Amino acid sequence: MNILLLGSGGRESAFAWKISQSALCSQLFIAPGNGGTGAYGKNVNINPNNFEALKALILKEKIGMVVVGPEEPLVNGVHDFIAGDSELSHIPVIGPKKEGAILEGSKDFSKQFMARHGIPTAASRSFTSETLAEGLAYLETHDLPVVLKADGLAAGKGVLIIDNTAEAQEELKLMLGGKFGAAGATVVIEQFLSGIELSVFVLTDGDSYVVLPEAKDYKRIGQGDTGLNTGGMGSVSPVPFATQEFLDEVEKSIIIPTVEGLKKDNIDYTGFIFFGLIKVEGKPYVIEYNCRMGDPETESVIPRIESDLVELFQAAAAKKLKDFELKISDKNAATVVVVAGGYPGEYEKGKVISGIENVRQSTVFHAGTTLEGGIVKSNGGRVLAISSLQDTQFEALQSATADAARIYFDGKYFREDIGFDLM
Ligand code: AMP
Ligand code: GLY
Repeated sequence: MNILLLGSGGRESAFAWKISQSALCSQLFIAPGNGGTGAYGKNVNINPNNFEALKALILKEKIGMVVVGPEEPLVNGVHDFIAGDSELSHIPVIGPKKEGAILEGSKDFSKQFMARHGIPTAASRSFTSETLAEGLAYLETHDLPVVLKADGLAAGKGVLIIDNTAEAQEELKLMLGGKFGAAGATVVIEQFLSGIELSVFVLTDGDSYVVLPEAKDYKRIGQGDTGLNTGGMGSVSPVPFATQEFLDEVEKSIIIPTVEGLKKDNIDYTGFIFFGLIKVEGKPYVIEYNCRMGDPETESVIPRIESDLVELFQAAAAKKLKDFELKISDKNAATVVVVAGGYPGEYEKGKVISGIENVRQSTVFHAGTTLEGGIVKSNGGRVLAISSLQDTQFEALQSATADAARIYFDGKYFREDIGFDLM
């Protein structure tokens, strides 16, 4: 079977690496891919949001399955487009339709969904420009810090944690006034939860589900979790504080009610659900849902999956996940992300990358790179994800960090402390 993978980040590199190892995959196409994915398949320069161009490619290359990496094409309806086209409707898509992707696409929807199905999360209320006065009054009585969230997709920038009432009121006005465009037309005001975060993933066929290895993502740019938020600077899997007892509680109080809730709401969902969780006094709460895998969590999760990924996807497409036994390695994975100088602020692209061949114990997943005439150059903020799978977490962390240091490009930066706080 020929497979089309949509996306261009480190997450898609990890998917491509694993899919290409499957005997069930004849040829893999990645649209658009990056400077590294060409090693696992054929990059095709098509924007995943250009559905007509995707259709032409699917027909030309006789694609038998589409796997969607990022949220944007899902929220835009790529699955609906394929399912609704008479020439494509037989092709399975891994990733939900619009009605399921809204779990990520609208924070207001996801909060209502959790309230409806009794899923533990921070208390919240939503406001629009029509109810601004009520929102300002609500903030007067709200505990600090308070969390303000733009309802829609805001490229990871739509969440503000504010510890001053007047400032929160000012921000609410700005957000409802269009600071984040249409994404901020509704704002969720939410209770601040204090705890430690982790990411749990399932693949669901809308009926049953398979739980994938959990991971922890490091979001801040600076050592010791300081400075600005980024897309993610590293990850580890497994997560030491996610004990079996805690993960059982996650399944019982969060995963099952979510999958059952989708069914009750008549949302037919085939794809990943990413539970962004926070552990507060031993109990899990949902911070957010995503309709896709995490990045850079995937780069630590995928190396721990021993089962054939295409077989897993086929089981999801056939609604047979109930009988699927996922084989997971007991080993420990660590991922260190190498970023461009200046990221997450302004940064330069086009820097020549050297030293990838010197990496000893890790797999290098390309993220923001291009391959030009055999030369790898940087092409984004997060440039490479260096992933190591070892017997102990300490070895994994040490080797991924040491291998990140073996790579060079002008302005290169990475955190040397990923995961060591958990030791
Ligand atoms: P989100 O875009 O919803 O993932 O939010 C981004 C980040 O903001 C999360 O990963 C958390 O670190 C933080 N955050 C969001 N909501 C809350 C909350 N209710 N309490 C504490 N931190 C939060
Ligand atoms: N690493 C967090 C995310 O993918 O949203």
